[in-house]
Amino acid sequence: MTGMVAAVVVAAGRGERAGGGVPKQYRDIAGEPMIRTTLSSLLNHPQIGPVQTVIFPGDEGIYRGAVAGLDGLPAPVAGGATRQASVRAGLEVLTSSSPDIVLIHDAARPFLTGRLIDRAIAAARVAGAAVPGIVIPDTVKEIDAAATVAATLDRSRLRIVQTPQAFVFDLILDAHRRAAAAGLESFTDDAALAEWAGHRVSVFEGEAGNVKVTTSDDFARAEIMHLASLSDIRTGNGFDVHVFGDGDHVMIGGIRIPHSRGLTGHSDADVVLHALVDAILGALADGDIGAHFPPSDPQWKGAASDRFLAFACERVRARRGMIAHLDVTVVCEEPRVSPHRDAVRARIAAIAGIPVARVGVKATTSEKLGFTGRGEGMVAMATATVRLPWSAA
Ligand code: CTP
Ligand code: MG
Repeated sequence: MTGMVAAVVVAAGRGERAGGGVPKQYRDIAGEPMIRTTLSSLLNHPQIGPVQTVIFPGDEGIYRGAVAGLDGLPAPVAGGATRQASVRAGLEVLTSSSPDIVLIHDAARPFLTGRLIDRAIAAARVAGAAVPGIVIPDTVKEIDAAATVAATLDRSRLRIVQTPQAFVFDLILDAHRRAAAAGLESFTDDAALAEWAGHRVSVFEGEAGNVKVTTSDDFARAEIMHLASLSDIRTGNGFDVHVFGDGDHVMIGGIRIPHSRGLTGHSDADVVLHALVDAILGALADGDIGAHFPPSDPQWKGAASDRFLAFACERVRARRGMIAHLDVTVVCEEPRVSPHRDAVRARIAAIAGIPVARVGVKATTSEKLGFTGRGEGMVAMATATVRLPWSAA
């Protein structure tokens, strides 16, 4: 069977155990609302078609803000009082797309990987109903009401189950409808409901990192897990030169610095931003500034270089990475850059969307040696440190 795969993402809970003002699925992890991260993983997976989100009635505004700019999301549907009712609402909407397989996933599990999605789809195609499970490394005891051990369980037969749980669509829709008709509303996962309906549920290998964010401590742990996942650390360098000519100012790192001469160039001749762009593109092994913004293209004539840096930073975000640090050295006899250092750092940080503490700016003369020493031009050299999700490539 190779038919269409859809997904239901349930996000209609109130996140009471996590506290924190807004429901947990709308809180940021690594600078991005948790629900957006979760939805991105599903939307970016090549085998998944419609991704149906289920939200709490009244959360439409906060939801729209959280997913702004994500392509291909149908309108969210209102959830119910229980997780089970919310899943059913999502499934009912998907009937119009008649998928073969559906993945049911919690918005509160943002560390969903493409590999786990692959396994879920493959398992559902074979078994009809399949859930990710994790082996339990610890010994597990059953206790009685007095917190006394009643039994030691055979942990080799136990699994902790996660989402995405994957099913043949008609099978799980029918099970949900039957459970609702029977007045049963308290199944805590869809596998339990499929079991109740008489189906065999197969268990495939889950991922230890695919945790559900439940408590406020989980948010702190999630930040650390996110950083740890960006373990492919890359460094790029950039170098740029512009020639002094007529003018009354130079642009350095997006800041206009008055000077008796200007710098000539096709755009605004901002050597610092140009060197930074090449450093970032170098870290990504993604060409250079000229490849993305050809000097032959009239639309870049006189352009403010902010947009070039914003573009390079967007390329990092598109790879789901982060810029860990930017550092630049300016070489010129004049103008003096150090009085403007903090303004330049703040401007670069603002364009790149990173903290100012992650931007270094230094300046030096070349002791009157060479073309910079003679005041013929200005040089900038930059280093970018970029963290990307681990990949074998
Ligand atoms: N969920 C839902 N509708 C409900 C209850 C829960 O869509 N009526 C969703 C949650 O938004 C979450 C997932 O089911 O993505 C798993 O539930 P849980 O982790 O318990 O989230 P909350 O119910 O929001 O949290 P809490 O139980 O702490 O209030
Ligand atoms: Mg709950």
